[in-house]
Amino acid sequence: MKMRPGTQTGFLLCGKEWNEGETLEVRSPWDQGLVGRVTQATRGDARQAVNHAVASIRRTRALPRWKRKEILEDVTAALIDQKERFAQLIVAEAGKPIRLARAEVDRAILTFKTSAEETSRLGGETIPLDLTEGNEGRWGLVQRFPVGPILAITPSNFPLNLAAHKVGPAIAAGCPFILKPAPQTPFTALALGEIILKAGWPQEAIAVLPLSNADTAWLAEKEDRIKLVTFTGSSKVGWELKAHSGRKRVLLELGSNAAMIVHGDWPDLDDAALRTAHAAFGHAGQSCISVQRVFVQRTVFQTFLWKLVDCAKKLAVGDPLDEATDVGPLIRPAEAERVEAWIKEAVDGGAKLVEGGERHGSVVRPTVLTGTQHSMKVRDEEAFGPVVVVEPYDDFEEALAEVNHSRYGLQAGLLTRDAGRILTAFREIEVGSLIVGDTPSWRLDPMPYGGVKDSGIGREGVRSAIQEMTEPRMLVMSGLN
Ligand code: SIN
Repeated sequence: MKMRPGTQTGFLLCGKEWNEGETLEVRSPWDQGLVGRVTQATRGDARQAVNHAVASIRRTRALPRWKRKEILEDVTAALIDQKERFAQLIVAEAGKPIRLARAEVDRAILTFKTSAEETSRLGGETIPLDLTEGNEGRWGLVQRFPVGPILAITPSNFPLNLAAHKVGPAIAAGCPFILKPAPQTPFTALALGEIILKAGWPQEAIAVLPLSNADTAWLAEKEDRIKLVTFTGSSKVGWELKAHSGRKRVLLELGSNAAMIVHGDWPDLDDAALRTAHAAFGHAGQSCISVQRVFVQRTVFQTFLWKLVDCAKKLAVGDPLDEATDVGPLIRPAEAERVEAWIKEAVDGGAKLVEGGERHGSVVRPTVLTGTQHSMKVRDEEAFGPVVVVEPYDDFEEALAEVNHSRYGLQAGLLTRDAGRILTAFREIEVGSLIVGDTPSWRLDPMPYGGVKDSGIGREGVRSAIQEMTEPRMLVMSGLN
């Protein structure tokens, strides 16, 4: 498949590019120009993809480790070779600033490289069973087997790396998969499908289907032959999907209004402010772990706030193709309008707008607010936009309570050098990961990643995802000695 922004493409099913049917226009988040047209997959296509996935499970399960490793290494090499092609696709359809798009390709390379390495670490366990009289000579072993066909549903904010987090581990585990990209970002997923096929993954074991969201929900509900649904996206859609997925396993990586604490003992507030600005406003805050709430000890509150404002002012806002741009557009003009309305709601309710707040088309300037209340959406809901709320605290306990005052719990950041406080926070803060010495937006792709509360269920990060995609089977050995 030869896809460049501005062209039309089909979808991948049974190793072929299918071009017939209705098409959907994909428009640039930056200027609404036409990026391309993609053929919409139908329910019939989805059923066919499941038929093929089911038929291919014996084959993918039997692929030796060296072969799965080789395929993943070839995908890694192709991403390295085609880094700029993928980066340009991400800019075109997701509106991500080019430097961040290149960084995303680098992360996807690491995700596939780690998936390749994990194939040689997928071991089992031997279990002693001669524990009671009469069981002499018995022992057992546990080996993990692929769960079966996987439905992988990916969002528009990291169209390559969050797909890599699902299909890399699926290949390592030996599971056929159907990849369903976000309607706004099908082209990156299709290009990824193309290189996976070229690398030698069986063609029946991969489909990349631009299905509508409604048809995807239908598929997850009706198709019992799918054994695992892995979804990254909004909390609302994720939990609804789980409620309708019957007996399937469901892995949910959902949103958050990530928080961090800046304690007064942190020695470098310049660095802290700079990191916070990039973590809150990079890719216009469109990350599930984008920092949205910052609690700062009162002794350093004003200093930190104005340093952050200074960093926010210096960020280059504009065309994502421009090498200098730090902050690009939101994914759709309607999303920018929503964020603008949330800022207005806070200001009308008495919050102080310290920086930003303006919107031009789909671009919202980096925005800093203080004096917010809990009822305000900018504080309690996931903004998924370039907005950060900064509030003072007096006691560390109060800061911990503020971080936990959220229905979400994905990652939190903590800037303190005090070991006691670090351990208290580790015990008390309800999140999937606590990041000490940095913002909550820090993530290294091989690490376990996922949330608690409304932020999801299960863990990604290559090794953890492989665990979710495999199930243990026990072999009991007796009568052999
Ligand atoms: C996400 O937005 O879900 C993932 C963020 C990341 O991988 O950095």
